[in-house]
Amino acid sequence: MRPTLPRPKAVPLSLTMPPHPLSALEQSICSAIAAAGGWIGFDRFMELALYTPGLGYYAHDSLKFGPLPGRDGSDFVTAPEISPLFGYALAKQVAQALAHTGTTEVWEFGAGSGALAEQLLSALAEMGVRLTRYTIVDVSATLAQRQQQRLARLGDLVHWAQTWPEHIDGVVVGNEVLDAMPVQLLARNEGQWMERGICIAKAQQSTAAQGSAFAWQDRPTTLRPAVEPEGVHDYLTEIHPQAHAFVGSLAQRLRSGCAFFLDYGFSQDEYYHPQRAGGTVMCHRAHQSDSDPLTLVGQKDITAHVNFSGIALTAQDAGLQVLGYTSQAHFLMNCGIVDLMQAATLPVRVAAQTLILEHEMGELFKVLALGQGAPWTPLGFARGDRLHRL
Ligand SMILES: C[S@@+](CC[C@H](N)C(=O)[O-])C[C@H]1O[C@@H](n2cnc3c(N)ncnc32)[C@H](O)[C@@H]1O
Repeated sequence: MRPTLPRPKAVPLSLTMPPHPLSALEQSICSAIAAAGGWIGFDRFMELALYTPGLGYYAHDSLKFGPLPGRDGSDFVTAPEISPLFGYALAKQVAQALAHTGTTEVWEFGAGSGALAEQLLSALAEMGVRLTRYTIVDVSATLAQRQQQRLARLGDLVHWAQTWPEHIDGVVVGNEVLDAMPVQLLARNEGQWMERGICIAKAQQSTAAQGSAFAWQDRPTTLRPAVEPEGVHDYLTEIHPQAHAFVGSLAQRLRSGCAFFLDYGFSQDEYYHPQRAGGTVMCHRAHQSDSDPLTLVGQKDITAHVNFSGIALTAQDAGLQVLGYTSQAHFLMNCGIVDLMQAATLPVRVAAQTLILEHEMGELFKVLALGQGAPWTPLGFARGDRLHRL
């Protein structure tokens, strides 16, 4: 539920922090910038900040996911960490999709702590669904290791893949994975579109003066957002080439089955709304959010909201059917979360409310379903489908 946390007042972190010696990650990013001729796009910066082996935010062993602000050392909480009922409700959708598509495998992309896998596997077993394999693909070797420890008791049923297989026959799930894929930044300055990237801060040799080793720099570009935001005011936004490439790869490989992506984001018109002039890039650390990815690099998560129209269009162009699009609240309720809550203890019920309340995760988070073959309506989209809004 990262984006719904209260945003801090607009205090520029970089002005509040003393100079510090460059971290190994900052040094490595400085080298990458120098090797690229003095400038890298934000997508490259985000990739290095999050995924540089051993050093990036998702590549070192800090806790990251957890429900206890300030107490357990975690940075943010996601739906499966909030309540097991998330996985139990999603399992009903997965079970129906497995039966409908005649497949017996589940693929999870970006499994984080392994919480969702654990919930899905328990729920599917309780429902008597016979899975032949549950495969996790995660770009973070550290998280994959954590998942392996957590799921070890499940034996051979769970596998980890480091590369895409030739074909996927099964049901694919990804919770908050698309928002973790690097984005390019586009800035409209006085009517001219520029790509916003990163250079090494001036006078920056061995210390990070004013808290950051890096500075923003805009360069002319032919890139444009999918929609020209109305108005003439300056505007900062993102485009999502890596998420589109990911969906393109999925479309190539999904031979039978379908996929469900759950994440925070909007349809295109909302995404490029004239009022959303500051973009959606956010950082998360110790359950606080800020909008300055150039400070505390490697110590905080960097994310951008998902443009679900863009993902759906890419999927469709690549041959997939767009089976449904709705809010997380509608999806989980269609999957029976209210019944699950009624049968649960009071603390579990209270926590699960966060998943569906409109002002918490219920509305900002969406679910997109993609499938191979003839169109059909998965359970989670039976009521409240918003395909027409994409
Ligand atoms: C925000 S975390 C979400 C984790 C988990 N799904 C949850 O809900 O708690 C993003 C996860 O996606 C993984 N990830 C990012 N890009 C990925 C990609 N292209 N393929 C697979 N995993 C990816 C990260 O390593 C991390 O495990």
